[in-house]
Amino acid sequence: MLLSAEDELRAAIAGFTGSPLRETATNLVFADGVPESGLMFIGEAPGAEEDRLGRPFVGQSGRLLDRMLASIGLDRTRNFYITNILPWRPPGNRTPTDGEITLFLPFVLRHIALVRPRHLVLLGGVAAKALLRSREGITRLRGRWHEVPVEELGRPVPALATLHPAYLLRNPAAKREAWADLLLLRRRLDAEGQP
Ligand code: URA
Repeated sequence: MLLSAEDELRAAIAGFTGSPLRETATNLVFADGVPESGLMFIGEAPGAEEDRLGRPFVGQSGRLLDRMLASIGLDRTRNFYITNILPWRPPGNRTPTDGEITLFLPFVLRHIALVRPRHLVLLGGVAAKALLRSREGITRLRGRWHEVPVEELGRPVPALATLHPAYLLRNPAAKREAWADLLLLRRRLDAEGQP
């Protein structure tokens, strides 16, 4: 059977022994959704539910994200694709270390190059800082479009930074900012004729 480039990337990550996270995690969490949709979301790292099921954003914060995205007509079975910076769950859901982020960033950039999205959405500070190579916090980066340089693509990808849904669960008042970001996304997709 012929493997797609994405299957090959998944196999390469699954076989990569450079991180001890592989030993403590249960399942590889690669991606979910529609790679051809043109819209790619990138989160931080799998949590307990994601680790159990091998799919990104299927726990409490994933359910919140799905509900919020549904309100702007986005559904992962139809019009977006979603992955994380880390493919393995850090023990106890601790924040990824800088070393772990640096180690897995080339895989994320390869993933973006294979999927060739027209737009990226960076969920939370870990994804935003890693891909925008910024030291600024998410509260400063969110709410505007940036560009993610992807050498292999030969073009930067427009990227909107927004708050992570897990943060919204802890700080419901911040949903106001997240809604504003989603409207910005919807407006741009509409302007560019993307479903
Ligand atoms: N949080 C993330 O950043 N990613 C997931 O897959 C789940 C929760």
